[in-house]
Amino acid sequence: MTQNLLITGASQILTLRGKTPRRGASLSNLEIEKDGAILIRNGQIAAVGRRSRIEARADARRVEKLDAGGRVVLPGFVDPHTHLIHAASRAEEYELKIQGASYEEIARTGGGILNSVKKLRSATSAALKARACAALEEFSSSGTTTIEAKSGYGLDVTNELRILQLQRELAKEQPIEIVSTFLGAHVVPLEFRGKPGGAERYVDLLLEQMLPQVVNEGLAEFCDVFCDRGAFTRRQTWRILNEGKLHGLTPRVHAEQLSRTGATQLGVELGAASCDHLEQVNASDIQSLAKSRTVATLLPACDYHLGWKQYAPARKLIDAGAIVALATDYNPGTSPTVSMPMILSLACTQLRMTPAEAIAAATINAAYALRRDHKVGSIEPGKQADLAVFEVEDYREIPYYFGIQRCWMTMKSGEIIYMRD
Ligand code: NIG
Ligand code: FE
Repeated sequence: MTQNLLITGASQILTLRGKTPRRGASLSNLEIEKDGAILIRNGQIAAVGRRSRIEARADARRVEKLDAGGRVVLPGFVDPHTHLIHAASRAEEYELKIQGASYEEIARTGGGILNSVKKLRSATSAALKARACAALEEFSSSGTTTIEAKSGYGLDVTNELRILQLQRELAKEQPIEIVSTFLGAHVVPLEFRGKPGGAERYVDLLLEQMLPQVVNEGLAEFCDVFCDRGAFTRRQTWRILNEGKLHGLTPRVHAEQLSRTGATQLGVELGAASCDHLEQVNASDIQSLAKSRTVATLLPACDYHLGWKQYAPARKLIDAGAIVALATDYNPGTSPTVSMPMILSLACTQLRMTPAEAIAAATINAAYALRRDHKVGSIEPGKQADLAVFEVEDYREIPYYFGIQRCWMTMKSGEIIYMRD
């Protein structure tokens, strides 16, 4: 049952109301209410603003009340890049990496994404679902209310469809909104490797068999390609994203993570919703993003987990006017975390984003990266009542504290989906 609720007593309400997406200086604009209130009716924000004004409304009189107890209220985090469904961790590779093996060396010897593909193909759907459910609970206990989720550890018709079907089931069975992306082009699977033309034959299979079924069953909204050394070329990426687009799937792309391939400019040309990673972008890539509606989605937890020193040039992207968003990239190979608060910390200390910029990048701009900024990502009348309440007095303390759980409550469409204790 959806609640009608009046929330008062917050030390700060970060409304993030106003223009979307946020570029440049406007990324810092959180539109904070200090003595504010939020009125929720039928799962939506009915009103937000000064407490005296909201309390005086006739429709605020007989609703249930919640005292935020001096905590900070903000829009639920939107995580616009995850690889939700996978069978197991890759802790064995983590240890190898610490001992000096690189991510790409491990991938070349059959580890990496192929390791996860092998594990997923032999896992039961019940086991995959149970693991994803546990992760979704952790997302909600960290303040996240909407996630994007990609296929990409199946890499054959049966398993790519199975992942997306499981995502659809999960979307119905638990409260976090799951936005699905088809990532059949994660890497070339083992059975197509080592033979001349193998990669092209896999792309043919993807285009002729996987994509039409994904579209016919309505299993995804977006199509993604890992365009990089050891994955797919720029030309293959163009074929896949272009065909996906003709089938109604909006492109997004894993771009310039390990090497600069030109995937960013390709993404911009194709009108991609976002280009993600971007550690290796150059000045002209930054300019292309700045002039476009394509979001630059940064994934600093990857660099952190892999022990890399080179992070994406967030400051240059923001200062040039690109639309910057943040995501966890939750996956077993490069980023085993679901915690947006941890991402905010990394954004501040490693990407040199201010706390306000990081919060806007993880809410309203992340919502824009999923083309959902009209529904989520800010606390404004008519939007879903998706909220996170943090046990802090000042929003800057959200990234400031790290490695500890400070989320006190999470709400999705007016329903409390997590409450501490
Ligand atoms: O976003 N870069 C490609 N895909 C993932 C890694 C996947 C994996 O290693 O399993 C990423 O970092
Ligand atoms: Fe990824």
